[in-house]
Amino acid sequence: MPQDYKGKTALITGSSSGIGVDIAKGFARRGANLILVARRTNKLEAVAREIEAASGVKVTTITQDLSAAGATAELEAKLAKAGVQVDVLVNNAGFGTNERLVNEDRDRIAAEIRLNIGALVDLTAAYLPGMIERDFGAIVNIGSTASFQPVPGMAVYSSTKAFVRNFTASVWGELKTKNVRVLVVNPGATKSEFFEVANARPFGNVMPSQAVVDTMFKALDARNPRPSVVVGGINSITARLSAMMGTKAVTKVASKLYLKNN
Ligand SMILES: NC(=O)c1ccc[n+]([C@@H]2O[C@H](COP(=O)([O-])OP(=O)(O)OC[C@H]3O[C@@H](n4cnc5c(N)ncnc54)[C@H](OP(=O)(O)O)[C@@H]3O)[C@@H](O)[C@H]2O)c1
Repeated sequence: MPQDYKGKTALITGSSSGIGVDIAKGFARRGANLILVARRTNKLEAVAREIEAASGVKVTTITQDLSAAGATAELEAKLAKAGVQVDVLVNNAGFGTNERLVNEDRDRIAAEIRLNIGALVDLTAAYLPGMIERDFGAIVNIGSTASFQPVPGMAVYSSTKAFVRNFTASVWGELKTKNVRVLVVNPGATKSEFFEVANARPFGNVMPSQAVVDTMFKALDARNPRPSVVVGGINSITARLSAMMGTKAVTKVASKLYLKNN
């Protein structure tokens, strides 16, 4: 049975642009009230106004840099003070960097790890117990097809996403109920601000962010929930092929994609 999100509250990180905006709209269409979190207040508020006008759900915005030390605890404290119960958590906030490791800015990759991994793990650990206690909830982590093979030129980013995929499937394996869904959604290149932020060029077919939302809801609605899904048929095949190739061969192929000045 698909979960009924009407009147529930969905916390969506990274919902000021790109994939997070469309995920927020998707949960609003299903009647969930929203908590939108990101750093750019004006963008968050514009998204909130648009969603409230279109669907009539309650949308709250919280400006928070989730890569900052103590940020997740601060967010949790703000929500607790406001008496918010989180029924759905979407850990979508994330960014990539596209340089050889030797050229990476060490502060930036440390922030990348704190956001892509640290905040995601801590928010999952914070809100999963309540969902299990109430026997209802969903945690969706946004992974990437970059998680399926080493990516020279994006060593830190692809490794954060490999962590997200393994972490999510492991937690999925710990669940004893189907009423709490834990899922990692792995998009390939998707239209958003991602490539501009990462200073990278997209490779292959760039999909609309709605494809991520459709894949996510199909997986959440499934009778037998799976821990991990890939967005798009070609991306699914490529991910499977990557798993079958030896590390040396797959790394050589991947280095053609994102390794600059190869
Ligand atoms: N686009 C792709 O090709 C692609 C492919 C696979 C996976 N993904 C993943 O999809 C997710 C969403 O990315 P996107 O493609 O939609 O890119 P995007 O348009 O750049 O969105 C990233 C979102 O994360 C927020 N964010 C970034 N740093 C943050 C921080 N320190 N604290 C709080 N929020 C922060 C951004 O908002 P603010 O700047 O306002 O903080 C924005 O709302 C990411 O996890 C990304 O790795 C993207």
